[in-house]
Amino acid sequence: MLEIIGLQVEIEKRDILKDFNLSIKKGEIHIIMGPNGVGKSTLAQVLAGYPVYNIKKGEIIYDGMDLSFLSLEERVQKKIFVSFQNPPVIENISMFDFFYSLYHQNKKNEVDKKEFEKILIKKMQILKMRKELLDKAINLGFSGGEKKKNEILQMEMLSPNFIVLDEIDAGLDIDSLKIVSKKINNMKEEGKTFIVITHCSRILDYIDVDKVHIIVGGKIIKSGGAELAYEMEKRGYEL
Ligand SMILES: Nc1ncnc2c1ncn2[C@@H]1O[C@H](COP(=O)(O)OP(=O)(O)OP(=O)(O)O)[C@@H](O)[C@H]1O
Ligand SMILES: [Mg+2]
Repeated sequence: MLEIIGLQVEIEKRDILKDFNLSIKKGEIHIIMGPNGVGKSTLAQVLAGYPVYNIKKGEIIYDGMDLSFLSLEERVQKKIFVSFQNPPVIENISMFDFFYSLYHQNKKNEVDKKEFEKILIKKMQILKMRKELLDKAINLGFSGGEKKKNEILQMEMLSPNFIVLDEIDAGLDIDSLKIVSKKINNMKEEGKTFIVITHCSRILDYIDVDKVHIIVGGKIIKSGGAELAYEMEKRGYEL
């Protein structure tokens, strides 16, 4: 599904990822952990296709093609979804209008606005999001957890096949974490593939993880099963 080979990524003339390799099969969940500033979000943003990151070397093969040549929009069409660690505020568009247009990205038949509102409110209720948020601008005045849930709502709306979640657990209360974890597990069962970036082994109590990778110095220095995350949390990254 995804094969990253010898990736080197530079930001402002500094190498962030160096000789980075990662291989993920369809339907797997891989956890990425590591100290602050090692390049975890950089990896997420490179997969999303943000142009500030300069790929100097390496390949990102997704479903048999090199992603490096695709624009952000083309990657969305290829069913790739990357959540933000810090979801941005977008002042000029309401939540309702945003989700209405997202929903229709993949659908040929237009759904009536009233009908769509019902679908959306139902999804929001499952995530324990207040329906009043629909009238607000995206993330404007949202709590930390509301912003994270908004990312999950976007993921659901786009029904992607490959998903990168950047610290989705940070800021979620325990009940919300369980709800989000259940969604992730359900999507895994449908054959969706995940990279989940986290600092905290708590999410591993709820999601069905295949592999855990530790990034230090721009590359993966250790991989293992769920036990590696618990070990790192206990010992820290000073190996
Ligand atoms: N757009 C940018 N412009 C300049 N420097 C950046 C940019 N994005 C990231 N960096 C730098 O690149 C390095 C890696 O950042 P990144 O956000 O990938 O770290 P991270 O592993 O996600 O850390 P954290 O655990 O704190 O989220 C950091 O030193 C950061 O300051
Ligand atoms: Mg980060």
